[in-house]
Amino acid sequence: MNPLGSVCSELDVPKLFACGPEPMLIVVKDFAITESIAGELSVESYMGCATGICQGCVIERQNGAASKHSYHDRYSLVCLEGPVYNASEICFS
Ligand code: FES
Repeated sequence: MNPLGSVCSELDVPKLFACGPEPMLIVVKDFAITESIAGELSVESYMGCATGICQGCVIERQNGAASKHSYHDRYSLVCLEGPVYNASEICFS
């Protein structure tokens, strides 16, 4: 068992909170989903305006029901809607 799994197994109701580099967030997200543990991830993004205008801070949503042509269903602006997301809410590409 990995260290994260070991810590979570000792808790009655584990919940994960993570911030840091994207490769680490990917591992925490995959672990949370695999183990059905609630988790919140603080995502980092380059922000050109921080007001929703430049569209430079997008992250893809994990939304299977989204229309292929609906930009706002498929992507979230980290500056306005983040930076904290539920682990199951976003995907890293
Ligand atoms: S930083 Fe410009 S839209 Fe988010």
